[in-house]
This record gives sequence, structure tokens and C-alpha cells, in this order.
Amino acid sequence: MASTDPKVIEDLKEAFAGESQANRKYLAFAEKAQKDNLAYAAKIFRAAAEAETIHAHSHLRLLAGIKSTPENIGAAIEGETFEFTKMYPGMLADAKAAGDKAAEHGFNLANEAEKVHAELFKKALANPGQTPPKVYVCKICGHVHEGDPPDKCPICGGQKQNYFEII
Ligand SMILES: [Fe+2]
Ligand SMILES: [Fe+2]
Repeated sequence: MASTDPKVIEDLKEAFAGESQANRKYLAFAEKAQKDNLAYAAKIFRAAAEAETIHAHSHLRLLAGIKSTPENIGAAIEGETFEFTKMYPGMLADAKAAGDKAAEHGFNLANEAEKVHAELFKKALANPGQTPPKVYVCKICGHVHEGDPPDKCPICGGQKQNYFEII
């Protein structure tokens, strides 16, 4: 049953955002712990990350945020399009104005990757049940590529070996 009380809805949105961030943060922390050979810490970070995902999904369900797949793809196209038409352009301008080259570079890579994501969602919306092609993601910039990975990432210029396959 989706929540209807406005205050509870606000709380659920806040909880969903917080748990979602905790999930990604803990996965990054787990990777760091693993690199430092701190296996126990890495495992607890991974376990907590899974738990935060369970919480986030529960909050999202109560927000009626999971609908039919065509509707969900529509929501994804809307989100990606917002990112590359409004969110990142504004942030890019801020980074430029501040002379923060690293932030400008990061925002620019993400902005370009989002355009591709939106296009791929549009393709998926046209035929969501078809047998999928091979799909690879560039671990440097998040470029998503259908088919065998290119020699050079069109967004960040990274080499082919930086792509990993989505199974
Ligand atoms: Fe995206
Ligand atoms: Fe890339």
C-alpha cells in the first residue's frame, strides 16, 4: 500500500535518498578496504550496502515509485534527460566559474554519458523484451556501449580494457 500522508511521503523520499547514498558510499568504502587487504571491514561494508538497498527499495515501493517496465523506462528517460539538459549544464557552469577543473571534467564525463543512457532507454522502450545484445560499461566515465567494446571510449578516451560486461 503506497503512503498518502504528505509528511510521510516527504520522510520516505528523504529516507530513500539517504539509503541510496549509503549503498553507493559503502560499496566505495568496501572497494577501498578490499584494496587495503582489510577483508573483514570490506565484507561488513558490502553487507550493510545490501541492507541499505533493501531499505531503499522498501521506501521506493511505499512511494509507489516502481510501476510497469514501460513506465519505469519513461521515468528513466525523464531522469537522464533532466541530468543532461538542466542539472549538469548548471553544474558545469558553476565548476567553470569556480575554476574547478576536476569537477568540470567529472561533470562533463557524466553529462555526456547520460545522453547515451537516455538513447539506450529509448531503444529499450521500443522493444523491452527482445534478446539483449552484449552490453559494456566504461569504468572510467560510465559510457554504456552495445556490442563489443570500442578500442577507445568515445567519451573519456579510455582504452578498450576499461570496459566491463553487463551480464
Ligand atoms: Fe545515466
Ligand atoms: Fe569512458
